[in-house]
Amino acid sequence: MKRTKILLNESEMPKQWYNMAADLPSPPPPPLNPGTRQPLGPEDLSPLFPMSLILQEVSQERFIDIPEPVLEALTLWRPTPLIRAHRLEKALGTPAKIYYKYEGVSPTGSHKPNTAVAQAYYNKQDGVKRLSTETGAGQWGSSLAFAAALFGLECKVYMVRISFEQKPYRKALMESYGAQIVASPSPDTQSGRAILAEIPDTPGSLGIAISEAVEDAATREDTKYSLGSVLNHVLLHQTIIGQEAIKQLEMAGDYPDKVIGCVGGGSNFAGIAFPFMRDKINGRQIDFIATEPASCPTLTKGEYRYDFGDTAQLTPLMPMYTLGHSFVPPAIHAGGLRYHGDAPLLCHLVKEGLIGAEAYTQVDVFESAIIFARNEGIIPAPESNHAVHGAIKHALQAKEEGKETTILFNLSGHGFFDMSAYSNYLAGNLIDHAMTNEEVRENLEKLAGLPLSFPG
Ligand SMILES: Cc1ncc(COP(=O)(O)O)c(C=O)c1O
Repeated sequence: MKRTKILLNESEMPKQWYNMAADLPSPPPPPLNPGTRQPLGPEDLSPLFPMSLILQEVSQERFIDIPEPVLEALTLWRPTPLIRAHRLEKALGTPAKIYYKYEGVSPTGSHKPNTAVAQAYYNKQDGVKRLSTETGAGQWGSSLAFAAALFGLECKVYMVRISFEQKPYRKALMESYGAQIVASPSPDTQSGRAILAEIPDTPGSLGIAISEAVEDAATREDTKYSLGSVLNHVLLHQTIIGQEAIKQLEMAGDYPDKVIGCVGGGSNFAGIAFPFMRDKINGRQIDFIATEPASCPTLTKGEYRYDFGDTAQLTPLMPMYTLGHSFVPPAIHAGGLRYHGDAPLLCHLVKEGLIGAEAYTQVDVFESAIIFARNEGIIPAPESNHAVHGAIKHALQAKEEGKETTILFNLSGHGFFDMSAYSNYLAGNLIDHAMTNEEVRENLEKLAGLPLSFPG
């Protein structure tokens, strides 16, 4: 019988995270203090993060031990399965082999708890009582709420308003774990009140919600801020995905020619890609393809430069591809992919030509998700649909070229809380939107005065 699921035992779960920063072919530009415009020091981050995570943020060590209590929490759902998509391959009639790493088996349905449990653990160790955060689609908020419950922390989540309205059950899930949820922009913070006064009916954005959560942490003694993507330490915690996949593909006697993942801030993509990137830097031929929505085309149409991570300009200036921090993307269903920037580490590798990027429209990604669901059974999260679409597109390309390619993609989560998006698609009500070059240019013009590079 053909093998479908490639499974690891708990004892085979990686005991260390892989730190991409140790193997970069060139050093990335430093994040800057927005006041002094000088490279950020650990003390600049200490109002927001515990020192243990700040040290991980700047670490150059190649491997970092995963603490025992974090390993123990991770075994609630890890190692996750690697699945060979035999049925999908057959339906597409492709000579390509398609494997997907399924992160939807976590308690909250995505890859996000991989870093949430680590962050909750380190905050608890450092004496923090309460965490604040933002959430787009609700996956990150649920994951931090879950992790906070495991380690006995309070948790407040600022949820982008459009998702808050589209996904009432995500709110119930977070509340079940004991977290407090508000729609963002909210009247609870100064940045929220300012935006509500200006645009009362705004759908919100991740940039706005980040401003609120950062302000919450910066103005309370007992609270630290927790981010579900973008930062180096978040990407680090996600590398357990790719390290497991390496072992699982070895068991299957395979190695990927193409590694594909969707990108919102870059954490699930980095999680699957970075452990393989090490091989590419050492000379192995692998294509990495980051997929994103055409309505929020950060990597494919954004500019590589310094920008704020949030709308209210409270965060450090980060070197990244950006559409401009004031950009509010249209209310597409992949709420977790509506972010104006991306992780600096990922952006650096795109800039260096080691990672490629493709942007897809909403209707196309749902069409692929339906093909996937009807063959593999899983209903993917709308964010993950971008990776599914990428895999199908490249498998069909392999068919056209008659090539036996091996494709690995990250199925970052399931879509059980996103069924209204599927209902809309099936009823023919999804609207496609692609950001034009003109719109991008207008947004980027607002960044005049911020440095393009360092030293400038
Ligand atoms: C299922 C899922 N996949 C992907 C993402 C995008 O985030 P990232 O790029 O950090 O993986 C999200 C964000 O909410 C998500 O919920």
